[in-house]
Amino acid sequence: MLEIRDLYYTVTDAGGPNGSAKRNIIDGINFTFETGKFYAVTGPNGSGKTTLARLIMGIHPLSSGSIRFEGRDITNLTITERARAGIAYSFQQPARFKGITFRDLLAIAGGTEEEARLLALIRRVGICSLSFLDQPVDAKLSGGEIKKIELATTIARNPKLAIYDEPDTGIDLWTIGPMVDLLKREQAEHGATTIVVSHNRAFLEAADVVLMVNRGKITYLGNLDGALPMLTDLSVCGFKPCGEGERDARCFR
Ligand SMILES: Nc1ncnc2c1ncn2[C@@H]1O[C@H](COP(=O)(O)OP(=O)(O)O)[C@@H](O)[C@H]1O
Ligand SMILES: [Mg+2]
Repeated sequence: MLEIRDLYYTVTDAGGPNGSAKRNIIDGINFTFETGKFYAVTGPNGSGKTTLARLIMGIHPLSSGSIRFEGRDITNLTITERARAGIAYSFQQPARFKGITFRDLLAIAGGTEEEARLLALIRRVGICSLSFLDQPVDAKLSGGEIKKIELATTIARNPKLAIYDEPDTGIDLWTIGPMVDLLKREQAEHGATTIVVSHNRAFLEAADVVLMVNRGKITYLGNLDGALPMLTDLSVCGFKPCGEGERDARCFR
C-alpha cells in the first residue's frame, strides 16, 4: 500500500573541519508497507525515524527517491493532499493552540460537531471524561494529555495509513497497554495500516513487523525476537577509534 523507493534525505552540516559536509539522514531506504499491517519502527536516537515518518507525510521534501501510496505516485503531493488520500501523522511533540479546545480539534479531524459522534470518538480512544472535551489544548495540559488528544484526532480521521511518532512519550506506564490495544483494535476493526515509531517493548511486541533504523538505513526487518540481540547491542555505548576521514559521534581520534 505504501512503496518507498531509493529514499534519501540529505542535509548540509555547516561548520565541520572541511567546511560544509553533506549527510544522508535517510540513506537509500527501500521498503513496501502492506495493507492492514502493524509496523514498529525502532532504532537509536538520531537514527532517522522521525525524518522517515515526516518524509512519508510530506512534512519534509525528500532529496531523491519516490513514494507510492495505493498505487499512486505521491512523491510531489503536499501534506494536505496526502492527508486527503488517507495518510495521518501524529507528532512526537504535538502543537498546543491558545483558544482551541479538544472539541474543536476533534470536530475538525472527524468532520462533525455532532455531540453523539464526538462522544463516540472519545469513547473509542478510551477517554471517559466528558469534561475533557472542553479542555483548552494549551500549555496547561500535561505531556501525556496532549499525546492522548493527538492520538484521538489522528484516529478521528479514520486514516488508511496512520503514522504515530513515539505515541508513548510522556504517557504514564499504565496507559501504554490500553494504547497498544487501541491501535491494534483500529488495525483489526478499521483495517488501518499502522506505523508506530517507538522504543517501547509493548509496541514492538504488538507489531507484525519490526523495522530497525540505524544511521538512515533499515538494518533489521522481522519479528521482535530477532531484533532483541541488536537492540541490546545498541543500548551498549560502543565507542571505537575513527577510521580515515570518518566523522561520527561514536568514534574518537
Ligand atoms: N533539517 C535538518 N537539518 C540537519 N539535521 C537534521 C535535520 N533534520 C534532522 N536532522 C538530524 O538528523 C538526525 C535524525 O533525526 P531524527 O529523524 O529526528 O532521529 P530519530 O527520530 O531517529 O531520533 C539527527 O541527527 C538530527 O539532528
Ligand atoms: Mg524521533
